Formats: sequence, C-alpha cells, structure tokens
Amino acid sequence: MLDKVQSLLEEISNAKADSEEQIEAFRIRFLGQKGHLKSLFSEFKNVPSEHRKELGQKLNELRDRAKSKVDDLKSNISSHKVKDTDEQPDLSRPGAPADYGSRHPISLVRNEIIDIFSRIGFTVSRGPEIEDDWHNFTALNFPPEHPARDMQDTFFVRNGDTPHDQIALRTHTSSVQVRVMEGGTPPIRTISPGRVFRNEAISARSHCIFHQVEGLYIDENVSFADMKQALLYFAREFFGEKTEIRLRPSYFPFTEPSAEMDVYWGLETETDHRITKGTGWLEILGCGMVDPNVLENCGIDSKKYSGYAFGMGVERPAMLKYGISDIRMFFENDVRFLDQFKTVV
Ligand code: PHE
Repeated sequence: MLDKVQSLLEEISNAKADSEEQIEAFRIRFLGQKGHLKSLFSEFKNVPSEHRKELGQKLNELRDRAKSKVDDLKSNISSHKVKDTDEQPDLSRPGAPADYGSRHPISLVRNEIIDIFSRIGFTVSRGPEIEDDWHNFTALNFPPEHPARDMQDTFFVRNGDTPHDQIALRTHTSSVQVRVMEGGTPPIRTISPGRVFRNEAISARSHCIFHQVEGLYIDENVSFADMKQALLYFAREFFGEKTEIRLRPSYFPFTEPSAEMDVYWGLETETDHRITKGTGWLEILGCGMVDPNVLENCGIDSKKYSGYAFGMGVERPAMLKYGISDIRMFFENDVRFLDQFKTVV
C-alpha cells in the first residue's frame, strides 16, 4: 500500500492540465466519491495497528497534495487567460486619439489676412480695446457733436471734459492708425487686427462684438491708384485669382476721397442672390486717402506725405469662407462648432 501511495504522489506532482475539464477530471480521480483517496481510506481500516501511524500520515499528505495541486492548476489556467486577453495588445485596434484644440475660425481668417498683407511689406500693430475719444473719434476728424459719430453706436465707459478723458470701447480699429502715426514717422505700412464694439442689436447678421483689420500706408506720393492695386491684390489672394473688385464712392470723416470696395461674388445660386441682395456684388471694406486733417492731428506733414487707409470686417469673410450662416456662432464657443476647424491649419 505504501508503494501505491508513493506512485500516486509522483503522479500528482507530474500532473498537468490545459483546461478546466482536465482539472475536474484530475480532481474526480483523486478526491471524488470513487477516487483514489476514498478507496485508500477504506482499505486503511484493515491495516494492522503497527503500520497505521506511518500510513495515516502518508494518506493525509496525499490528500493535501491532491487538493493543493487542484488549486495550482486552476490558478495556472486563469493567469494564462489574463495573458491571452489583456496583456497581448491587439495591434490592429485604432489608437485613442489625444484631444487637442483648434484655431478659432476668426483667428484663421485674421491670420490669413495678415499673411497676405505681410507679403507686400505690411507690419502688424495693435492698440487698446478700451480707447479714448481722441484716438477713436476726434483725431480721426469727427468733431464733437458731429453726426458721423452716430454712424457707430458707441459703448461709453467714462465721461470726461476733454477727448483724452472720455473713454469708450473702440468702435473701429481706425483708432490704431492714430496711435501708429503719433508714434512713428513715414514711411508707415501697417495693418492692425483687433476686436471692436458697437451697441447694435444682436442677430444672425450683426453682433455687438466683432473683428476688423485696419490697413494704413503713409509715404511720399502715395496715390489712390496705389490703394486700388493693393486692395485688388488682397481680393485675389483671399477670394481667388479671377476675383473682380469695384470701388463705390462713400463717406468717412477720416478719408477723402472715400470708397467702399465690393468683390464680384456671382449670382448662380439662391444664396448668392440673398447675400448680394440681387446685385452679385459683396461689400468687403471701407477705404480712402487719409484726410490731411488726420495727418496733421497725428503730427505728420500733410504737404509732404499722403497715404491710404482701409478697414475690413473679419466675420463676414469668415462666414463666406466656411459657409457659416449665423454670426453668433463665433462667440458661443460650442465645441461642436469649434471642432469642425480641427483639420484646418
Ligand atoms: N473704420 C471704418 C469702419 O469701421 C472703415 C474704414 C477704415 C474706412 C479705414 C476707411 C478707412 O467702418
């Protein structure tokens, strides 16, 4: 009987299993109702008393070994399972993308405008959004009480006795023209992008906050033809090389003569009809030759120098470029809107 126990012990230590079924078969063979241990223990009753102690210990050892072998085999199998599913990466699975931000469409269009003008020598300058009356109005040839001030519904911040004490949110980027001319000497060739504010009712087409890019070129003998050529260059870079422009006479207190520039958009679709009001032409910017009064207000000799200025909105071209129908979307920061510009570089 001892020999039999010995050979079963060996069998236990050599036992292997690849599946739950094999472990169960092993358990039944050793520990089941008709297993080796059951029959050995019943044989044990007939063992003479002098051998009982030694054999009893052996049988207990055999039972314990069989039990712990079952546990070992089980844990072996479950650790293999973990390996199969989790530890071996499936290299064909798509990766988890890192969530990165995107440029705002207004920044994209503003940067494009800056790029276009910097290619013909314009630098970038900036001024404050909270501005005094001098820079926003008075120096630009808007006398006090002049009706032209009503063209731009102003958000006033603080009242004061002089144009330098009266503070408002700037209504246009033309205020930066004044700052650049006051602080420098010609030749001046600069564009000034920035945010402007007007007390207008908010709708799909207009907002109380919007963006402009101002342009200013001052030198000796600058002519209206120079301005027209620079604006035609811009229109063709931005809207396409076949773009046609036209200049319509207009009025701004700080330019003389003044004009508005339209680009030909076409009349092919219903949308074309709607956004061009049936004319095919889209108004893009205001422009003109800087009024000599403005040059003098800013300390520039108007007998020696002349120049042109222009100012354009950013929202309108951005809406045309990306097919955005409601200006309010620019300011709501809805990620479903912003995410659409992720692929635009
Ligand atoms: N500042 C004008 C506006 O906001 C645009 C403009 C700029 C016109 C420069 C002429 C010259 O409407």
